[in-house]
Amino acid sequence: MSITNETELTGMQQASEAVAYTLKEMCSFAQPGMTTKELDNYGAKILSGFGAKSAPFVTYGFPGWTCISVNNEFCHGIPSEKRILQEGDLVNIDVSAELNGFWSDNGSSFVLGQDIHQYQKLVNASKEILHKAIYNIKGGVLISDIGHLIETEAKKRGYKVIKNLTGHGVGRGLHEEPHEIANYRDVFNRKRFKKNSVVAIETFISTTSAYAETTNDGWTMVGNRGGFMAQHEHTIVVTDAEPMILTAMNEIWN
Ligand code: CO
Ligand code: CO
Repeated sequence: MSITNETELTGMQQASEAVAYTLKEMCSFAQPGMTTKELDNYGAKILSGFGAKSAPFVTYGFPGWTCISVNNEFCHGIPSEKRILQEGDLVNIDVSAELNGFWSDNGSSFVLGQDIHQYQKLVNASKEILHKAIYNIKGGVLISDIGHLIETEAKKRGYKVIKNLTGHGVGRGLHEEPHEIANYRDVFNRKRFKKNSVVAIETFISTTSAYAETTNDGWTMVGNRGGFMAQHEHTIVVTDAEPMILTAMNEIWN
């Protein structure tokens, strides 16, 4: 969406605070021994407290309030009573929701407890790259130039990017125009970021795979060549200068 007045900005700020606060709380609530269903229930309670509804459930009928993906799972993991979190797991939580007609989206990958499997370097790369990408966005910048920046930064660190997962417009729905804010230079995408538009910028930094594939459960995505992926996501408003980071409260850069 494009922000045209104060009411719309306030609406987006409130929806964004709900998802950002929920994400932050879920990340600190996660503990070894807990099931991903328990973690999702905790997030559901917080979102409900804001009066917010799960965006993937409302939009796609996703079987959970939030997406929780562990280790080899890249994204869209279904919260499950059978999935028990363990020390050193690479966990991704993605929280998106609707509040009073406004939609916001954010996500974070982190290492649970001690980094016994050495995932932290991948997580840090994703965080740093998201920061660099976001602070290079302003009105008029080619979307494909940001994609190029993300891929270049990933390669510099010895990683790949996932080509079939992208950032997107957000605001009056979960996924809006521009639909494909890729993590690589898409030469066919001549679109530019527009001042006052709301977009969800997300990284998909991976160790070995360049594509994500849906598994038999119909939701969970894994790499076409295995490995691991880290994702970090903020919903922002594009301006003439530095973007306004609506989901800053998630503290993924702290
Ligand atoms: Co998103
Ligand atoms: Co998301």
